[in-house]
Amino acid sequence: MAAVVVVGSANVDQVFRVDRIPEPGETVLSTGFANARGGKGQNQAVAAARAGASTAFIAAIGDDGFGRLTAEGLAEDGIDSSRLRTLDGPTGTALIAVDPRGENTIIVEAGANGRLAPLDEADRSVIAAASVLVMQLEIPLETVAEAAAAARAGGTTALLNAAPIAELPDALLANLDVLVVNEHEAAHLRSSSGAAELTELVPTVVVTLGAEGAELHRRGGDVVRVPAPRVTAVDATGAGDTFCGAFAAALAEGAEAGDAVRFAVTAASLSVQEHGAVPSIPHRAAIDAALAE
Ligand code: RIB
Ligand code: NA
Repeated sequence: MAAVVVVGSANVDQVFRVDRIPEPGETVLSTGFANARGGKGQNQAVAAARAGASTAFIAAIGDDGFGRLTAEGLAEDGIDSSRLRTLDGPTGTALIAVDPRGENTIIVEAGANGRLAPLDEADRSVIAAASVLVMQLEIPLETVAEAAAAARAGGTTALLNAAPIAELPDALLANLDVLVVNEHEAAHLRSSSGAAELTELVPTVVVTLGAEGAELHRRGGDVVRVPAPRVTAVDATGAGDTFCGAFAAALAEGAEAGDAVRFAVTAASLSVQEHGAVPSIPHRAAIDAALAE
């Protein structure tokens, strides 16, 4: 039985290092290239597993080389992939440009992720048995809503990382316990929902602030601001996902929310110091060592 279950996307990232992100109509030469495991769902599952949580991943890959690379990688990370579907057609792919400051632009082709539907009884049992369910928005919204409903029915804490930006139906919001958003996503949700505070929508909200760390908001509680350690970033790809997975692992261990945010901020600050999404996600020993500094 997994403590953390992630329902979400798996991509292979085609990462181009560039001196400058190209303008429309411009061609630039890459200074380095690699294929790496990624996708917000996979990144979050890997982050939870490397942070020490027994983790299951409900996802869809294509029947191709990228799909096999993904399945092998999940096995290496000790992630329960018994609910992984292999569908006809391509595995999800992301085209990523990273500049020397570690900033990126990303284009995602959903591939098999776009057809991860519907969930079945076996998926619902895995969700109900877990402590924490983690979701993002690179799969059909109906599947996210089904997963959140299964968590609610099973008494599992439901965490949504509302990325990329999408309109969230009230029925989905009502089944969430924790929302993790960056500042852009937070502003969008506030303006589209008309909520003055996001805690009107979901009782616990974490706003990630990049190099500034994160803020924990709880309905009726004080805001807790957790600064990030000063580090030199080479690639921010997957930092938010590392935060979410590590945060879920800490919650599943019974950590208090503020301590879980501190743990997750530390994990994310380690991930930005390495290239790629999955290749940069830290293991528990490194997170503990950085926390002790
Ligand atoms: O959040 C980073 C991820 O977004 C990348 O790994 C890419 O695959 C896209 O899903
Ligand atoms: Na990184």
